[in-house]
Amino acid sequence: MHETGFTMDASSIKFGPGMTRETGYEAARFGCTRVMVVTDPQLAKLEPVATVVASLKEAGIEAVVFDRSHTEPTDASFAEAIKFAQEGNFDGYVAVGGGSSIDTAKAANLYATYPADLLAYVNAPIGRGEPVPGSLKPLIAVPTTAGTGSETTGVAIFDLVEMGAKTGIAHRALRPVVGIVDPDNTRTLPPMVAACSGFDVLCHGLESYTALPFDQRDAAKSPGMRPSYQGSNPISDVWSLRAVEMVAQSMVRAVTDPSDDEARTQMLLAATFAGVGFGNAGVHLCHGMSYPVSGRVKEFCPDGYPQDEPFVPHGMSVVLNAPAVFRWTAQADPARHLRMAQALGADVAGADPADAGEILVERVIGLMRATGMPNGLSAIGYGIDDIDALVKGTLPQHRVTKISPRPVDAESLAYLFRESMTLW
Ligand SMILES: NC(=O)c1ccc[n+]([C@@H]2O[C@H](COP(=O)([O-])OP(=O)(O)OC[C@H]3O[C@@H](n4cnc5c(N)ncnc54)[C@H](O)[C@@H]3O)[C@@H](O)[C@H]2O)c1
Repeated sequence: MHETGFTMDASSIKFGPGMTRETGYEAARFGCTRVMVVTDPQLAKLEPVATVVASLKEAGIEAVVFDRSHTEPTDASFAEAIKFAQEGNFDGYVAVGGGSSIDTAKAANLYATYPADLLAYVNAPIGRGEPVPGSLKPLIAVPTTAGTGSETTGVAIFDLVEMGAKTGIAHRALRPVVGIVDPDNTRTLPPMVAACSGFDVLCHGLESYTALPFDQRDAAKSPGMRPSYQGSNPISDVWSLRAVEMVAQSMVRAVTDPSDDEARTQMLLAATFAGVGFGNAGVHLCHGMSYPVSGRVKEFCPDGYPQDEPFVPHGMSVVLNAPAVFRWTAQADPARHLRMAQALGADVAGADPADAGEILVERVIGLMRATGMPNGLSAIGYGIDDIDALVKGTLPQHRVTKISPRPVDAESLAYLFRESMTLW
């Protein structure tokens, strides 16, 4: 039997320059007296963290900073934050940073509130997919990238190192109670971080809008088992479509000219819009294929990131698969793919539905070239010999592969990875 309904969850959002100074007010509103402030070593030295800590103190709240969240968290880095949380006796959490810090705070909150081995709540079949037993402590998220939209979602992603792929925990209880979305906090974003996180926004919009419709998914066995990623639905569509339009208008300017306040502000808003969209509809193959691309990195170190260890930034690992994916998924629903192309500025009047994928991909590649993305997986160190392992790392990502608009198997994934090696 197919699903007949969908749910729509979102965090409360406070948006605007200077809103970070209201973090203390928000934490006090939720009764917090001692909070763990989760951030990373680079951001710990920057203004957003100082502003958050000052605001908490002013509200009479004790703020204990944990500045060791790892860029692209791993099971080990989650474990370190969880231990800190379990020993800290906190009654609230504030995450200040990109998706890495926000997701780390979600995991710390979850496992400090309901201790369990890490795989307990991780998506099946990789983990056991147990539902979160109840509500968590309040988490306030202050994003500094534009961005993952993690301030609006019930999802926490990490790299399960022994598996060589990312996976995640997805449950509505993980969702922050408030997202404080403040354009002042993205002013110091390095251009490459702005580009990669911007492509994450774009793919959130494109994938959630083109995902399998919610009423073509198998019905959940019980309300508690209904997945966060439900498939495209009329409410998510509104948010996803608008997010893609905003990216089209602002992304190149925001990346190439950080002094363009208007473009930077629009990208941050777009990230939140896309988060509301995909946080309920889900993402599909660009993300599913990105998880082993990130997890199996060899020597690639992106220019413009402060880390000097090999890793593939999340948004980059996602968008490198996008051209092959959308050329392939377009036949499932050409009209929706054309609508996305139009949102990205293409003239689709009179377009042949058979060309929908190509018209959309042309716009995506245009943005990639304008913002310095590498030319396919081969440019970040992958070759044909890696395809089997990349397919193996994608197949168990049921949370996202099951809402692909076209059913996938090992053969189609191998084709998509082959097509993603070189893009132009
Ligand atoms: N939970 C979700 O819904 C969700 C959605 C998408 C992605 N993610 C996850 O989020 C992670 C990626 O997060 P991200 O792209 O936001 O980046 P990030 O948190 O990994 O940060 C990237 C780098 O940018 C630096 N940085 C961040 N903001 C800065 C600023 N304002 N000024 C200067 N430097 C800054 C950080 O210190 C870090 O070095 C991945 O692990 C990804 O899987 C989660």
